[in-house]
Amino acid sequence: MCTNQYTDYKTHLSRARSASVQSSQASYKGKMDGTTREALFPIQGIPLPERVVKYWARVEQFQASKEDLLIATYPKAGTTWTQEVVDHIQNEGDVGRCRRAPTQERMPFLEMTSPDGLSAGITKLEVMDPPRVIKTHLPIQLVPRSFWEAGCKVIYMARNPKDTVVSYYHFDRMNLTQPEPGTWQQYLEKFMTGQLGWGSWYDHVKGYWRERQNKKILYIFFEDMKEDPVREVIRIAQFLGKQLSKSMLDHIVQMTAFSAMRENPMANYSTIPDTIFDRTASEFMRKGEVGDWKNHFNAEEDAAFEEHYCRLMADCPIPIRFTV
Ligand code: A3P
Repeated sequence: MCTNQYTDYKTHLSRARSASVQSSQASYKGKMDGTTREALFPIQGIPLPERVVKYWARVEQFQASKEDLLIATYPKAGTTWTQEVVDHIQNEGDVGRCRRAPTQERMPFLEMTSPDGLSAGITKLEVMDPPRVIKTHLPIQLVPRSFWEAGCKVIYMARNPKDTVVSYYHFDRMNLTQPEPGTWQQYLEKFMTGQLGWGSWYDHVKGYWRERQNKKILYIFFEDMKEDPVREVIRIAQFLGKQLSKSMLDHIVQMTAFSAMRENPMANYSTIPDTIFDRTASEFMRKGEVGDWKNHFNAEEDAAFEEHYCRLMADCPIPIRFTV
């Protein structure tokens, strides 16, 4: 990674840019056709789904309490996995309690809302007692101020951008509320230029990384969790002030493994209707691997991506791994 590789990057960019224009036209057509796919609108320059923007004021004004825990990620970094691990730690591995409700009810999605605004992360959180576990994809500068004023703990999970964009692409194919993904090539260009929902992956991972020592942020990596889940679950438990016995630790690792979560209706998003998640396009629990990007990037895309990645990450060398 980050060696000098020759790429005709300008050609790549202009080709993908013209494709991107066609893709946004396609996304507009999707709305006219009566599908629920939404456009993105900026909040402080960060593209967010229309419904998030529409109800933004109440997100901004959300009152966190000091016992709340925020799980923050760029989309597709392993949010649900982290949530499941945290819930198991907090409930001491009690399977019944961890299956009390689907993920989005147990640990609401802070900024997300239904199109009519009635069912929202905020409204779910308002009727829950702290300590609440809250999911967000917001970049650090958009996290409501009350989280920092209250001194809340934050777990941030980062995933290498190649696997992230592959996962996001398949997610946007199946999630019919997301903008039309277009072709893989168009999608990759949008990812690299920060045009996807929740903005630039590069700025997102850097934002939390730079603040991790100033705020109570545990920064973890998807690849580390895959490589050694026992080690990472211990780190998370320590951050939460919990001590786990060896048998409890093994139990939690087993219950939060990809194979177990994929079969768990309270953790695999199977409660989301087919009219929103088109499972003929892709699964939510798709592969859960490190390195699936090798099945998607061609040599030219990979070279362009590496050059771009090295340039954008030069000012903030985060130890991101693309293989384990
Ligand atoms: P893939 O699409 O690569 O399979 P998020 O929860 O942030 O939306 O991330 C979803 C991604 O995390 C998907 O990646 C999903 O399969 C993966 N994932 C979820 N639970 C996992 C687990 N227990 N182990 C490994 N990967 C998991």
